[in-house]
Amino acid sequence: MIEVERILRVDHAGEFGAINIYRSQLFVARYLYKDIVPKLEEMLGHEKKHFNTFDRILKSRNIRHCYALYFWAFGGITLGVLTALAGRKAIWVCTDSIESTVLHHLDWQLDFLSQHDTEAYDAVMSIKADEEEHQDFGQTHGSKSFVYKPIFWVVRQSTEFAIWLSTKL
Ligand SMILES: [Fe+2]
Ligand SMILES: [Fe+2]
Repeated sequence: MIEVERILRVDHAGEFGAINIYRSQLFVARYLYKDIVPKLEEMLGHEKKHFNTFDRILKSRNIRHCYALYFWAFGGITLGVLTALAGRKAIWVCTDSIESTVLHHLDWQLDFLSQHDTEAYDAVMSIKADEEEHQDFGQTHGSKSFVYKPIFWVVRQSTEFAIWLSTKL
């Protein structure tokens, strides 16, 4: 079903983007914020596992990956580097912003998949707890200060745009 393929493809691309964000934040953090390196590594580990989950399903069903996959990588690296250079709190604001946007999408996906595709439903369900934990951590370690509002907003818009684009490509 076309809608199921679309969901699997956008989630696969999203995890690829997430991997690139954490990788580039880690690159900066190894120099500037060594204390958060283990946490970022842990989150990167989750995103790799999520990516593999969707990658396996796409391959087993012969579904092509998103044409915008390399745009996600580029976007991820850009967001990762810029937020990391804006400070350690900006890293967590970025996480909070992305995950709250993503979780919103996961909810309607789960709603749809529960009626149409058990395997895809299980795959999306299997990543949800990790993403909730990421958002939670981002929210508590980020900042509610107005200084970070533009970062939160830009990251949210970029995430929404990437998701929108990937449903077209
Ligand atoms: Fe993920
Ligand atoms: Fe995540």
